[in-house]
Amino acid sequence: MPYPKLFSPVQFGTLTVPNRLQRTSQVSGLATEDGHITPELTQRYQREAQGGVGSLVVEAAVVNPSRSSYNLRISDDSFVPELKGMVAAIRQRNPHTRIGLQIMHFLKISKSGWRQRVSDFPAEEIPVIVDLHVQGARRAVEAGFDFIELHMAHAYTLSSFLSLSNDRTDEFGGSLTNRMHLPVKVYRAVRRQVGDAYPLGIRINGEDFTVKGTTLLQSTQIAKRLAELGADYISVSGGSRFEDSPPPAPGNPPDPMTGYSGHRMSPASWFPDLTNVYLAEAIRDEVRKAGFDVPIITAGKIRNPNQAEKALDDGKADVIGLCRALLCDPDWPAKARNDQAQEIVTCSACNWCLGADTRMEKVNCVRWPKGALNAPAPWLRGQSDPNTHAEGA
Ligand SMILES: Cc1cc2nc3c(=O)[nH]c(=O)nc-3n(C[C@H](O)[C@H](O)[C@H](O)COP(=O)(O)O)c2cc1C
Repeated sequence: MPYPKLFSPVQFGTLTVPNRLQRTSQVSGLATEDGHITPELTQRYQREAQGGVGSLVVEAAVVNPSRSSYNLRISDDSFVPELKGMVAAIRQRNPHTRIGLQIMHFLKISKSGWRQRVSDFPAEEIPVIVDLHVQGARRAVEAGFDFIELHMAHAYTLSSFLSLSNDRTDEFGGSLTNRMHLPVKVYRAVRRQVGDAYPLGIRINGEDFTVKGTTLLQSTQIAKRLAELGADYISVSGGSRFEDSPPPAPGNPPDPMTGYSGHRMSPASWFPDLTNVYLAEAIRDEVRKAGFDVPIITAGKIRNPNQAEKALDDGKADVIGLCRALLCDPDWPAKARNDQAQEIVTCSACNWCLGADTRMEKVNCVRWPKGALNAPAPWLRGQSDPNTHAEGA
């Protein structure tokens, strides 16, 4: 076995995950405008599961009832049967891949440039945010997902409460303890809903990468608290905050991907490989020192199995997150496992996929044949167009 660490099992609480590769959440633009599942969406996840990834986090499903075009929704019981159908279809393609759902509460934005801030929520709306997560989690369990990931990273509501940029002056803003108040309430309420045995992971920002944003100084404390509360994994991301994005062009909504912070979530080609691994490493060190063995997940421009195996070997993380790399080549895990790593079609970190999301287009990979919504099967290096992008490391 060429990559023994990568292909060793890992526990998310009670759930045994067959290997240490996780497909991190990726909004796909493949849901209908009102958030329903399409055959293309199901086929995307079937194709990715087919490639042998150990755990697959289905894209952020919206828990709040507000309009959010083309985002997957879990804001109403009527979505449960179709989510259930999708989970069954993915499982049928690969019964070993563990299937999770990221659930997300978002802050509203408008084309005028206005964006909702955490201080815009009156105190009486705080319990509503908690309940929306609880109902979303209940539906995810009913739909048959193996685990749930609470989205506390990037530009969304819970991350914005955690952030130093939280401008509330009541018990939900100010000190770190106060800023954690709502995310902890959400965690506890969801935990009560799903029970102690159900695997519940969390995604946080290791750094916001804005001047007035969360840094490792705070995120290590946040992670320790979540570990203490019993989170079954902590996935460490970074960036994608609005605070440093330039004002949008007239008629466009503000875009958290446009500033420096935005460029750190999915590090582009000019960033070094393994850009954000140090965040997971620092958090892992602190969490371990505090006596918790919760798995820590890292992601961010990890493109080949040698890099991934070494990060695990060096104790920098417990699970390797792959988002764009797996979109580009869903067979990355199978090829690594079968000693065919040289056949992996390497993600060039061009961020075509991220741009598609911003343009509200269907997310695809520039290396696939034109117009395709999935990588062909089989998908070999010689089949990708060498003229589109330089081959990555
Ligand atoms: C098109 C696109 C959509 C994404 N959507 C989400 C999302 O819904 N939730 C999330 O936590 N991260 C999201 N991410 C971030 C990825 O999960 C991942 O952390 C990031 O791209 C770095 O990993 P990579 O270098 O393997 O792509 C998205 C990334 C891309 C490119």
